[in-house]
Amino acid sequence: MDIVCFNGEYLGAGQGSVPISDQGVLYGIGIFETIRVSGGSPLVLERHLSRLFASAGELGLKVPFGAGEIEEMLCLTAKKNGMEQGGLRLTLTGGGMGGPSMFIQGRPLTYREDQYHNGLSAAFSSIRRNEGSPLVRHKTLNYFENIMARGEAVGAGWDEALFLNNSGSLAEGAVSNIFLVAGGKVKTPHPRCGLLPGITRRRVLEECSCMGISVEEKSIHPGELSSAEESFITNALMGVMPLTRIGNGPVGSGMPGEITLALMTRINR
Ligand SMILES: Cc1ncc(COP(=O)(O)O)c(C=O)c1O
Repeated sequence: MDIVCFNGEYLGAGQGSVPISDQGVLYGIGIFETIRVSGGSPLVLERHLSRLFASAGELGLKVPFGAGEIEEMLCLTAKKNGMEQGGLRLTLTGGGMGGPSMFIQGRPLTYREDQYHNGLSAAFSSIRRNEGSPLVRHKTLNYFENIMARGEAVGAGWDEALFLNNSGSLAEGAVSNIFLVAGGKVKTPHPRCGLLPGITRRRVLEECSCMGISVEEKSIHPGELSSAEESFITNALMGVMPLTRIGNGPVGSGMPGEITLALMTRINR
């Protein structure tokens, strides 16, 4: 993954620099997208681009290129890196004296086969998600809390950290959205609970409706997770990933459930 696209130019990794006056550097002002590449092509790209432009519009950020140009840059960055399977990260900074910077970096996938087979574990973070924040539903450069929460969870032997919101309801994972299956229904926290409405989350909701599975977006008490039949988490790079342990206890049978497996077959590539 040696080639990066920096403001439309293709440079060697480690090249390209953001001015120290950039609000992204000074205040964490900016947004990003993480996009799965499969068979050499970025997946569900229109959705990533529309989230990028929608967030930029709502947050008053300037996108220095058009959607067509960005699409071409993403495809070319994957191609120049010989990427068949992997991830692309597109970062847009808030800019400063010299205007915003936009850059695209490639990365390998790190999720393993055995993790899809056995499922991941998660623990609740002591950091709360602020459902009243105007930033929580955007993929902003403010990932310090997420990284802290995940670092604490991983340090204690779990794979993912789960955030509750200020009202004590389930919100999302540090790098994922969360779902549970109870009574044969798929349930996931409502966007008002304080979460990034993920692109994979939306795909899961759509697939459930194609499969005739009823879905509820609602406020979920964390206790519902331990009594759930199944649980899974999602993001663009991992797709659908079973969540089989919360703290020291199993979720359901402690192995990926039937609905989770069916969604993995439909969504993961
Ligand atoms: C905090 C958080 N929530 C949810 C998601 C899932 O979003 P998406 O499916 O668009 O990748 C991510 C992805 O990185 C995330 O960081």
